[in-house]
Amino acid sequence: MLVLENPIDAQTELSQLSQSELIVLVPTMGCLHEGHLQLVERAKQLGSRVVVSIFVNPLQFGPNEDFDRYPRTFHEDKTKLETAGVDFLFHPTAADLYPNGFSCSIEVGSLANRLCGHFRPGHFNGVATVCMKLFEITRAQVAVFGEKDFQQLQVIRNVVRDFNLPLAIVGHPTVRDTDGLALSSRNRFLSAQDREIAKRIPQTLFSVRKQSLENPDLTISQLLSEARAALAPLEIQYLEITDGPNMKTALPTSQVRHLEVPRIFLAVKLGNTRLIDNIALKEEAE
Ligand code: PAJ
Repeated sequence: MLVLENPIDAQTELSQLSQSELIVLVPTMGCLHEGHLQLVERAKQLGSRVVVSIFVNPLQFGPNEDFDRYPRTFHEDKTKLETAGVDFLFHPTAADLYPNGFSCSIEVGSLANRLCGHFRPGHFNGVATVCMKLFEITRAQVAVFGEKDFQQLQVIRNVVRDFNLPLAIVGHPTVRDTDGLALSSRNRFLSAQDREIAKRIPQTLFSVRKQSLENPDLTISQLLSEARAALAPLEIQYLEITDGPNMKTALPTSQVRHLEVPRIFLAVKLGNTRLIDNIALKEEAE
């Protein structure tokens, strides 16, 4: 595995690959877990060269967020990626990606202001901007993103559509721990007691799906108020059922069976740790 430390090295090295190689990018912020590694496996199936980026992107963190305490475990990450058979690891510094005078960024539009975006102003613009840079630097033909961050995946799909970027975006299902909690680099901040409480997140989401399938007359508002009660004492930032690729909030009086691509989304705070999750409400398997 070749470690590429800055954009020039990465561009030079990757542009020397033969035209017949298909480059697949997996963007990450490191502190890699099995969820990230499954994206890497997917990337290996999709192309002939896999590039993983590790960069904790300051542009997507708000002033009072956890940029400073975000876990950084580069050496362990590097070993995991080597073992996984990754070809290139791109690991730039913030000064490399945002040199003095850096001033252009992507404005994502209304999708960026809802759900997570409402609680993290500027977050998705920061994500879109860094991903655009990673796409340009690597010239990947495919990039793999997790459905764990479903809104991010949709934002990136919109960026690719709106800027006619020549790459395909592949979404990969959420990878969960044995207790159902979605794997996340931030789970390491949870105490054993927090962890017990956090299990309610997937339990509640899957129970909403079960209920909506078993009692199709239940309204969105009935489903959500039961879910809210089940999640106590977690501090809920948002809990919503949405429909369609632009994730429009479903009417409280409607029923899941009347929605085309219903999904339930939530963000909760457990102490200082913010956790998000989402599932599709119509697919059987997940
Ligand atoms: P990060 O949180 O490190 O996640 C990197 C990728 O792994 C994202 O596509 C995310 O959706 C995926 N991922 C994380 N946990 C997952 C899980 N349990 N199952 C499946 N996929 C999972 O998301 C980011 O970094 C950043 O915003 C980034 C896209 C790198 C831009 O800075």
